[in-house]
Amino acid sequence: MIGHGLVALFLSLLFAAVAEAQSLKIADRKGSKTFSAADLLASPLARDITIARDSVYGRTMSYRAIPVPELLKGLELDPKDYVDFVATDKFSIGIPLRLLLRPGSASPHAYLAVEDPARPWPAMPEKGKETAAPFFIVWQDAKPGEISPEYWVYKLAAIEVADSPYLRWPSLEVAESLPATHPARRGLDRYVALCISCHRFKGAGQGEQGPDLGQPMNPVDYFQPLAFRKFLRSSKQVRDWPDRKMPSFNEEVLSDEDMEAVIAWLTYKARN
Ligand code: HEC
Repeated sequence: MIGHGLVALFLSLLFAAVAEAQSLKIADRKGSKTFSAADLLASPLARDITIARDSVYGRTMSYRAIPVPELLKGLELDPKDYVDFVATDKFSIGIPLRLLLRPGSASPHAYLAVEDPARPWPAMPEKGKETAAPFFIVWQDAKPGEISPEYWVYKLAAIEVADSPYLRWPSLEVAESLPATHPARRGLDRYVALCISCHRFKGAGQGEQGPDLGQPMNPVDYFQPLAFRKFLRSSKQVRDWPDRKMPSFNEEVLSDEDMEAVIAWLTYKARN
């Protein structure tokens, strides 16, 4: 009897977990709504799209998808807002609204891709058996320099309107007195686009996949400078194991100048 009770409990927990993982929450500061994959697939806003250069799958992909601007319609938005895309795996990134709502037909176009259970998506390269399902943010006509690879959010669970990271975490900022041309300024912008999704800095941020980069020690204080640069380009050149998650940032995504800028910002924060 107890055995059956436990099995039933386990199954109900399992179904609850699956049901939760399959729904998408969309929220502004006033409230939220939850949609299932079936709701979204049945929506008249859904359409078939082709992504010529899918950043996650590394090839041309086709999806059933809804344009992100359609999903944001009716929400209370300020042009300076960001939208947080929160994944089931502790990944979270704020994307500026201005990139999501392009005027007229200007590219790039952000879409919410929804997996149709009848046509499951393939496993993602270098991610074992994991797929991007059930919800995945994809970009049409995106230039890698403008649309960070971190903006391709897979295993999405929630879309939430939020203040910009600069307003939310003012401790990330550099001093106003710092010259406008100081590389730490650009470094902070690149950090917010490329790193904050997984790393907090002295607690600031909400990603938790990787370690805090500000405390207890800042990597500029324990990484040998050349090894640090090598690590950012391709972390497996420095250390490797099956569960390694730190992405490789190639020059298209993070130019040498931008890499120096991120390091300049980390160094500035370590000294000030
Ligand atoms: C997709 C998530 C993700 C992103 C984005 C990301 N990292 Fe990481 N990073 C990790 C994880 C996870 C680790 C821990 C090692 C691992 O699992 O590979 C890590 C490790 C590190 C470390 C080593 C810390 C230590 O002491 O071991 C540094 C430094 C670092 N990342 C810097 C950065 C910088 C700078 C950026 C942005 C240019 C960045 N990371 C972007 C996930 C990420």
